[in-house]
Amino acid sequence: MISIAIDGPAGAGKSTVAKILSKELGFIYFDTGALYRALGYYFVNNKIDYTNVHLLVNNLNKADITFKFVGNEQRMILCGEDITDSIRSNQISMAASRISAIPEAREYLLNAQREMATKSNVIMDGRDIGTVVLPYANVKIFLTADVRVRAWRRFRQLRQKDIGIRYIDVLKQVKERDKNDTEREISPLVPAKDAIIVNTTMLTLNRTINKLIKIVRKRIDGKK
Ligand code: DC
Repeated sequence: MISIAIDGPAGAGKSTVAKILSKELGFIYFDTGALYRALGYYFVNNKIDYTNVHLLVNNLNKADITFKFVGNEQRMILCGEDITDSIRSNQISMAASRISAIPEAREYLLNAQREMATKSNVIMDGRDIGTVVLPYANVKIFLTADVRVRAWRRFRQLRQKDIGIRYIDVLKQVKERDKNDTEREISPLVPAKDAIIVNTTMLTLNRTINKLIKIVRKRIDGKK
């Protein structure tokens, strides 16, 4: 099996490029952030204070998280209910970010991620795929961009659904998530030693994709 890890901060465009790349290569795209978001949804929806580590740890295994693929689309199932369309809000983003700093929560989600890579050729995106989840991934990309550019991209996405949203608030949230994701003690967001760093601040989506396809093909041609 071939695995490609794409890590990087919020709003770097990981999922957009991973989806396109996966189609191009015929790989499965697996979004690991959706697992953390499903956990976040569980705690928010059940009104359990996830900032209380004791409560969080004691309730973790009640969150029965599974997923299925409908065509290429990864649908998230929580305790039998399809929650895919409810996990993209800011509230869930912030909860997922906080929860993901807790070692027990990361451990709880680790096997599901590793198992995916044993079953099919996969492109997985997240924060610690190249460093922790799949340290032997065939290709590791660290996708990043200036925080203002990332916030602007996120703002444009969110504005389609929420007309009242303000750029300044999105920027603040992206900065806060960066802080949570990079400063946590366990599996912080850092590039793996053997990751190729791609900075997309000045790149269009097309140029980013072309660049990544070249990198990936160079590494995996002959392995398929
Ligand atoms: O990629 P995303 O924004 O959907 O991820 C939501 C949160 O989950 C993010 O703030 C950090 C966390 N996360 C993580 O810690 N490790 C991963 N592999 C993926 C996501």
